[in-house]
Amino acid sequence: MAYKIAIIVGSLRQGSINRKVARSICGLRNDNLDCSMIEIGDLPLYNQDLDGNPPEQWTRFRKQVGEADGVLFCSPEYNRGIPGVLKNAIDVGSRPYGQSVFDKKPGAIVTASPGSIGGFGANHQIRQAAVFLNMPIMQQPETYLGHVGDDSFDDSGCLKEGPLKELIKTLAHAFHDWVDMIHRSRQLLAEDSAHAAQAAKAKEHA
Ligand SMILES: Cc1cc2nc3c(=O)[nH]c(=O)nc-3n(C[C@H](O)[C@H](O)[C@H](O)COP(=O)(O)O)c2cc1C
Repeated sequence: MAYKIAIIVGSLRQGSINRKVARSICGLRNDNLDCSMIEIGDLPLYNQDLDGNPPEQWTRFRKQVGEADGVLFCSPEYNRGIPGVLKNAIDVGSRPYGQSVFDKKPGAIVTASPGSIGGFGANHQIRQAAVFLNMPIMQQPETYLGHVGDDSFDDSGCLKEGPLKELIKTLAHAFHDWVDMIHRSRQLLAEDSAHAAQAAKAKEHA
């Protein structure tokens, strides 16, 4: 079974290296990960006053993320933190209070930059938000991708052969296994409690 993955890219730039990394991840596991890039550039800025009558873009975004089995964040770092457009998307998806579409969704975080520290600051700010959002985030491999530029990709926008592609392959496999483990264990727990409830009922009627 292919898991539905919502990919949220924190860059609106047409030639974004983070978007290309995201596409490469999808390409490497398209047998098991059914990936969709979720548009965030059109989301009006989050304003709690609009919760009662949300803009259609918020509703569309919440539905798309809500239907996914997992979320993959691929983002640049802006001034050592999360780009505003991504933070806005996270805020939009997290509300109204108690109805967050991120709740319990397994996720992974990738940051790519031409710089040497690979978006470490942004990566951990996303991680910090994910703690409050109650998202089980994959711990390893950590993916702070440094020294990534246009020359890291071939003409079709896929990662060239080399250590970066190998790391992304490892991440893509680990992410599939992470999403799979979380969904399977939840299913087993649900089956266990259904059996326990059945057994208790049978005992009552014995
Ligand atoms: C407003 C702004 C702030 C930036 N700040 C950082 C930064 O803190 N750390 C970093 O590694 N790169 C920084 N960069 C450079 C980006 O990593 C680079 O532009 C990268 O290509 C953006 O990702 P994208 O190609 O996916 O759009 C910044 C770029 C912009 C436009």
